[in-house]
Amino acid sequence: MCIRINDYQTSSRRHIIDKNIIAGDIMIYLDNAATTFPKPKTVYQEVMRAMTEYGANPGRGSHSMAVEGARIIYETRELMAKLFNLDDPMKVIFTFNATDGLNQGIKGVLDPGDHVITTTMEHNSVLRPIKELEKYGIENTIVQCESDGSISVDDIESAIKSSTKLIVTTHVSNLTGTIMPIGEIGQMCKRRGILYLVDAAQSAGVLDIDVKRDNIDLLAVPGHKGLLGPQGTGALLINCDAEIKHLKEGGTGSESSSMIQPNFYPDKLEAGTHNLPGIAGLNAGLKYILNKGTKSIYSHEKMILDIFINGIRENGRINIYGPEDINNRCGVVPINIEDIDSSEVAYSLDDKYGIAVRPGLHCAPLAHKTIGTEKIGAVRFSVGPFNNKSDIMTAIKALNEISKN
Ligand SMILES: Cc1ncc(COP(=O)(O)O)c(C=O)c1O
Repeated sequence: MCIRINDYQTSSRRHIIDKNIIAGDIMIYLDNAATTFPKPKTVYQEVMRAMTEYGANPGRGSHSMAVEGARIIYETRELMAKLFNLDDPMKVIFTFNATDGLNQGIKGVLDPGDHVITTTMEHNSVLRPIKELEKYGIENTIVQCESDGSISVDDIESAIKSSTKLIVTTHVSNLTGTIMPIGEIGQMCKRRGILYLVDAAQSAGVLDIDVKRDNIDLLAVPGHKGLLGPQGTGALLINCDAEIKHLKEGGTGSESSSMIQPNFYPDKLEAGTHNLPGIAGLNAGLKYILNKGTKSIYSHEKMILDIFINGIRENGRINIYGPEDINNRCGVVPINIEDIDSSEVAYSLDDKYGIAVRPGLHCAPLAHKTIGTEKIGAVRFSVGPFNNKSDIMTAIKALNEISKN
């Protein structure tokens, strides 16, 4: 399954799916919601180039290797700002994943006495920081979603109190794939003078997100999912003037004579050496997406998900969760075969058919409770830009066979 980059020129196990990507040929990978695989070929090449050609410490020296590293990092901020329509690339804060950005966003703006609203469809990366803040006198309301994962904007608005400072919602549920109405929520937040933080872990690189149009103050994205970069990358985009506290202090390569953390972006929130090889790979992932366009990536993923749902819909033993209308769903389809434990089904898919999926609770316990699967979990199929119809037909055949036995 693994790609060994140092022998990808010669390995007989390597095959080329199209001219842009390389991949192992052992499994059908339908676990893209956890992290995308494979990546565009240029991503592997850029990681390698950063490691071998200019792997100095960016921003920590004036020699040409450090300058090249700093250039790549700045260019990646610009690409990120372009993709999400953020005015100032210096307000793209690099993080190590979406969780890191969500923690920074949530803990950076909330103070004792504040109130925060979120929903039952959130990932633990939102729920846990918010629950942690209860210890510091920061109250929360978790708004109940419907059994298909959808949320009512009116219900969110009804939960607002005079102390509400922040609303946090996911853009796409990592369990049901439900697309949340972030534009409407953003508009309501703007009208009510409340900050809006969007968790775009499942949508960045797939759906069109415009922080200005959608009135998003803070956008947390992973670099390693839809943006097609390596693991260990992510970003928090800041589209507001609110005060954001730094959660760590350290070297930034700037204002070195001062023992106080710099008060300007991005240095204020980026202490310590960057993940340069990761950011270089993310740079290539962003270029791939900007070149291809999210519209075409989303329509491809929607088309193959539709085939998948239609291929198992008639099977009376299979329960499919999430929105009925494919237009309200992105990337993800969770299923169960009657009340069989999801881990057993995932094991069979892996062992007998070479299909990688994710069973269990997907770090989203309240979301499972919302759709009624908290006891057995669900088998989550999630597609990426390089899955094709043949992957999906194999998955349909496998599920129909497993359900018979
Ligand atoms: C909706 C959602 N939010 C947050 C995360 C956390 O992302 P990361 O693993 O990049 O920290 C995930 C990961 O699957 C997710 O699906």
